[in-house]
Amino acid sequence: MQHVRSTARFPLMALGLLALLTALWGGLVRLGWAWPVPLPTLIVAHGPLMVCGFLGTLIGVERAVALGALWPYGAPLLSAAGVVALLAGLPAAPLMALGSLGLVAVSAVVVHRQCGLATVTMALGALLWVGGNGLWLVGWPLAQVVPWWSGFLVLTIAGERLELSRVLRLSGLPHGLFVLAVSLWLAGLLLLLTVFTPGVRVTGVGMVALAWWLLQYDVARRTVRQTGFTRFMAVCVLSGSGWLGVGGALTWHFAGSVAGPSYDAMLHAVFVGFVLAMLFGHGPLVFPAILGRALTPYHPALYGPLVLLHASLLLRVLGDLLGWWPGRQGGGLLNALAVLLFLFILAGVLRRGRSSLGWREAPSSLGVSQPPV
Ligand code: HEM
Repeated sequence: MQHVRSTARFPLMALGLLALLTALWGGLVRLGWAWPVPLPTLIVAHGPLMVCGFLGTLIGVERAVALGALWPYGAPLLSAAGVVALLAGLPAAPLMALGSLGLVAVSAVVVHRQCGLATVTMALGALLWVGGNGLWLVGWPLAQVVPWWSGFLVLTIAGERLELSRVLRLSGLPHGLFVLAVSLWLAGLLLLLTVFTPGVRVTGVGMVALAWWLLQYDVARRTVRQTGFTRFMAVCVLSGSGWLGVGGALTWHFAGSVAGPSYDAMLHAVFVGFVLAMLFGHGPLVFPAILGRALTPYHPALYGPLVLLHASLLLRVLGDLLGWWPGRQGGGLLNALAVLLFLFILAGVLRRGRSSLGWREAPSSLGVSQPPV
């Protein structure tokens, strides 16, 4: 059974990676790079491939590894099958909807085992993925589905950060403020079902509130004074949270936008600035956990892709807001290169099995180790 579980991870991760690479290609073509489009569906499938195909599958595998049973692999199996359907131009929403329901079931088990604000927040994130996929399934335009998907990713990450910050023993006021920020976001999502623009605007306020919370209370504020991987992770969290705040302000300002440069800026401040920076920060913990390696790979070269990611996103967002096409297109291309560079460095360090810190603590409920504070 153990053998089946560990071999199941590799094809699932390979399909997740395929989703990432094809989504990057499709996104760049959408930005105006006149490159060949080998599959006609690649351009419209960019958002679903990124959110459901790549990140949905990655999160599903991470949870399945943490639970240590075979059945939780059903969720990433369905979203990985959704990647194949997306690339083949077949209806993928039913598979993604089933996959997200699977993640809700897995999250329910996690909450049952360890009920707390962190696990409940992650379960709420999974529910938002179901909500978004449900809207996609019944034919809502993607622009109206996207705020739900954004909620899925941000609440999943926020829940993980809360879990990793448990060493601070937060309670009372910090927990109350966290609940308030998440509630604002949820209220916005419910509102946009009936009145789109005001609803999206409220989600923007929720984003700013959550960004402020992370900058104020996350353990990264302390761990940034440490060295090695611990500091790198904290820099990712703090810089990513800054982008979440920018994304919230842009979402407030451009709430009614459903395409074009303003839409691009408000979406990718969150998806690239927050979500990818968090992936860079947590990837060196998550990937070895998934691949069954004990060490946390770290090399200072990891700062290279992080700096490139933030600088190129700034270029892209400025290009979007000022109508400066070369900035927008060049920034998008460098965003994609930052992702590839990150994967390249991480793979190299993982292969050498190098660890600057060498801490090998027991995995948390999420399957990742806790950095020393
Ligand atoms: C890193 C390079 C990326 C590039 C070059 C890129 C490019 C684009 C472009 C050009 C659009 C269309 C915006 C418009 O209407 O003008 C778009 C939409 C979108 N992107 Fe990205 N993107 C990238 C990363 C991401 C990431 C990391 C995510 C998710 C985590 C993501 C999710 C989405 C979603 C959900 C949409 C909306 C889909 C739709 O309305 O059809 N993107 N992207």
